[in-house]
Amino acid sequence: MAFVGGQVGVSAKCQTAENDVNADEIRYWTEICGPEWVRLQSALERELGPLGDRAIDALDPRDGERLVDVGCGCGHTSCALAQAVGPSGAVLGVDVSGPMLAVARRHAREMKLSNVRFIEADAQSLDFGPEGYDGVFSRFGTMFFDNAVAAFSNLCRALKPGGRLSFVCWRPREEIEWVTVPLKAALRSLGLPPPNPSTAFSFADPDYTHSVLASAGFTNILITPLDLKTGGSLDEVMEIIKIGGVGTMIREYRDRADAAFADVRSELRKHETPCGVFLNAATWIVTARRSVV
Ligand SMILES: C[S@@+](CC[C@H](N)C(=O)[O-])C[C@H]1O[C@@H](n2cnc3c(N)ncnc32)[C@H](O)[C@@H]1O
Repeated sequence: MAFVGGQVGVSAKCQTAENDVNADEIRYWTEICGPEWVRLQSALERELGPLGDRAIDALDPRDGERLVDVGCGCGHTSCALAQAVGPSGAVLGVDVSGPMLAVARRHAREMKLSNVRFIEADAQSLDFGPEGYDGVFSRFGTMFFDNAVAAFSNLCRALKPGGRLSFVCWRPREEIEWVTVPLKAALRSLGLPPPNPSTAFSFADPDYTHSVLASAGFTNILITPLDLKTGGSLDEVMEIIKIGGVGTMIREYRDRADAAFADVRSELRKHETPCGVFLNAATWIVTARRSVV
């Protein structure tokens, strides 16, 4: 496949920096969480893949289009988008995490896709160039910006007039069994009150999301709930929980951490079926357009 377009105005060199406004998130996704996502990518793909597929369907990618995948991580969705737009189209995956992008590039090579490329950069400030993309997509990669309006204004500028946006993000954590089941077990075990929600839930409130997108220049904003049970084996699910917010909280209580993880595991076992543990991943599918004028 020939790579056509997609690179205009975008430097291939790393655009992340120590003094970036998102420096804390960049460090987190590069040094702490990114290597864990790389280690668990197959299990994460089983859990998140079906949710990303719905957001790809909502974007409705077409032959020959130029698309951006924001916070593309290990590149699975970027490669799926590259297949959807075909050899005359092009996909740019943007992420701040070097270790995850290394996997993304390998993945694209293995799939023999030459119409997808990846750049290590902060999507909040990256200059996407003047040509304009047909679509901006993200699977759980848009919740970590220091300034959401600035970031989505930049993504809106990346689009042609009338260009499309589609992303999937988490609903409030109280609605997500993937969070409530392990979190309640951990809090009971450790005798703690619920902690504040992490940045992963920053688009949980649809009114907030709507106001961010409208301020950033988007129109035709649709925020649709998606309830889908996803999962994997009990061991896989435990590994994923360990690298997320619940696992991080538990590890702070070193002497009681092993007991708390055991309590989480026995709670999850109650939901185990012969096919594994499947729980509701409550998300929003968000779509919008850059206005035509
Ligand atoms: C929850 S992970 C999702 C990764 C991938 N989209 C997936 O679904 O497997 C969030 C991703 O967003 C990336 N990210 C966070 N802040 C970013 C930013 N300002 N610009 C670009 N990527 C960012 C992280 O490095 C990470 O890969």
